[in-house]
Amino acid sequence: MKIELIPLQIHGDERGSLVALETEKNIPFEIRRVYYLFDTKKDVIRGYHAHKALKQVAIAVRGSCKFTLDDGHERVDVILNNPAQGLLIESFMWREMSEFSDDCVLMVLADSQYDESDYVRDYEQFKKMAG
Ligand code: TYD
Repeated sequence: MKIELIPLQIHGDERGSLVALETEKNIPFEIRRVYYLFDTKKDVIRGYHAHKALKQVAIAVRGSCKFTLDDGHERVDVILNNPAQGLLIESFMWREMSEFSDDCVLMVLADSQYDESDYVRDYEQFKKMAG
């Protein structure tokens, strides 16, 4: 399974660092929604779903967490701990997020607005749909 980590250029100088996210430049879709997770409690696992169509990029802008991606055939763990790195999550990828550091802020860019009907929340159904 191919894991795509997008390198994000840091514009840094003596004042600090800045990363810009732009549609079709470093983010390979039109950004229609941004959300972020923070204050995530220890030992929780979030996600447990796939999306039929939605594409997303996840960035740990602070701290770290583990992403487990599963295409229905293979599971791969990816540690996100770098604000200059975006994990591309294509549609039809089962995801679980865990091992959040206390300070983790996980930002997610998405190509569509929130739509519950785009979710697949049953793993067995996901496996069948993934073929
Ligand atoms: P949930 O899908 O459970 O988050 P996770 O994938 O991290 O486990 O979402 C938590 C709540 O937030 C749920 O009530 C739906 C709501 N929500 C929105 O209203 N808009 C959004 O863009 C997202 C991602 C979630």
